[in-house]
Order: sequence, then C-alpha cells, then structure tokens
Amino acid sequence: MSLIIDHLSVSLNSKEILHDISLMIKSGEIHALMGPNGSGKSTLAGSLMGNETYKVKGERLKVKVDDKDITNLKTEERAREGLFLAFQNPIAVPGVTVPNLLRTALNLSKNPPESKRAVNNPALSFSEFNKRLLTTSKQFNIPQEFLKRSLNEEFSGGEKKKLEMLQAVMLKPKFAIFDEIDTGLDVDALKIIARGILELKKNGTGIIVITHYNRILKYAQPDYVHILADGSLVETGNKSLALEIEKNGYKKWTNKIL
Ligand SMILES: Nc1ncnc2c1ncn2[C@@H]1O[C@H](COP(=O)(O)OP(=O)(O)OP(=O)(O)O)[C@@H](O)[C@H]1O
Ligand SMILES: [Mg+2]
Repeated sequence: MSLIIDHLSVSLNSKEILHDISLMIKSGEIHALMGPNGSGKSTLAGSLMGNETYKVKGERLKVKVDDKDITNLKTEERAREGLFLAFQNPIAVPGVTVPNLLRTALNLSKNPPESKRAVNNPALSFSEFNKRLLTTSKQFNIPQEFLKRSLNEEFSGGEKKKLEMLQAVMLKPKFAIFDEIDTGLDVDALKIIARGILELKKNGTGIIVITHYNRILKYAQPDYVHILADGSLVETGNKSLALEIEKNGYKKWTNKIL
C-alpha cells in the first residue's frame, strides 16, 4: 500500500508555496520531512488532508492511497480513506471530548463496506472501545480526567501532542502525518511519542514525521529523510542527513540562509 504524491504544486493567495513535489510513502515506512521555517512543510501536510485554503494545481496533482485517487476528496473523505494528520497547532473544539471524536471516527467505519471504511481496523463495540482507550491512555501517561475535557482546550503544549498521538494509535490510520509532534515535549514525553510512532509503524501505518530536531529520530528511526527548501524537495537521504542538518544547518540547500 502506498501514499503517492505525484507532481503536487500548491498556492496560497496566488503565491506558489510548493513546487512540483513527488513522494511515495509505503506502508510501515517512516519518512522524516525537515526544512527551514516557512519552507512549506505544514502546507504540504494540510494539502494532503485536503485543506480547502490551499489551491492545488489541478492537472499536475495526484495524491493516491492504494489505487484510489483522493485529489478531489474533502478532508473527512480523506480521513475515511485512512489519512490522519496531527496538526502543528492542534485546534480547540469546545464541547467535544477525545472519546467523542474517536467514537465518531470509528463509527464512520461501521456501516460502509470494507473498501469505504474510515480506518483500517474493524468497528469496535462500546466496551472494547473503552478498554482500548483506557489501555492506550495509560500507555501515553494520559490521566483519565483529560478524556472528560474539551479537545485541545486549555491543555499544555505537550499534553495536546500526547492526545494527538493517542488519537492516531486508536484510529490505526493507513497513513499518518505528524506535524512537529515533538515540539515542546519533555524527555519522557518524547520517548512516549516515539514509541507511538514505532507502534504505528509495526501495524503497517506509513508515517511522515515533520520535525526540526534529530532527537525524535533517534528513538523513532526514519527510513528516509527529505529536505524541503523554499517549497521544493531538494534532497532525500537516510538518518545521517538529519545529523548533517543538526551540525551544519540548511545553508547547503538554500542561499537565503547565511
Ligand atoms: N494565507 C497565506 N497567504 C500567503 N502565504 C502564506 C499563508 N499561509 C502561510 N503562508 C506562507 O507559506 C509559507 C509556508 O508556510 P508553512 O507553514 O507551510 O511552513 P513550515 O515549513 O511548516 O514552517 P515552520 O517550520 O515554521 O512550521 C510561509 O512563508 C508562510 O508565511
Ligand atoms: Mg509548520
């Protein structure tokens, strides 16, 4: 199974931010996406999820999950095809708890035929759902009290990131994009989040980890590291590329940085 990004260009307010991006992520692979601030990483993540703010170039865009072209699907339909995005700045949703959200997402997979399921795990009964939620929240050191509060409202930065990972592990998506999920995490939380990434990998999820730091990649080793500079993919390598960036920065790939 692959997520195929085929010649994707994206504009915001008539300015082209991403230029002709092609990338293939296979099941169970971890791809790290690195690049200077403003290079377009979050724009790529949002475009993959079908954020309507972004104008994608019709003719040249192809985003495929399995053999299905998802280019014209809305965000919720892309989620149903098995795509998951953990936002760089998770959005607060007053009145909606994490269990509410998860049950809704998992229930979407209940009625449609197998091929149309939201997530690639079978529908869960209420008690199975609660059991899994309890186990998974313990795994991520998330107090039960957090599950009664509104989504991303008044949680600390690190708590929000752990709640995002809890959702990903519960949903078992086909492909997951984590946009700076390692930012602002303490050392223990970082290891917990990395374990979540590895668990997803083991279950066959294809993963894009957008990050500025090598430290998460030490615990969740990437199969590939890509560099996005000024909206273009300029290099692909292995984990040693992340070490090189840590040492020398991005000046080799962009002339804007002194
Ligand atoms: N609505 C908008 N109109 C015009 N430009 C925008 C708009 N939103 C974002 N941009 C620009 O698009 C570029 C890419 O932003 P993006 O958030 O994708 O970068 P990023 O690589 O995720 O950066 P960071 O590492 O800081 O998170 C930036 O220069 C940003 O200022
Ligand atoms: Mg970003």
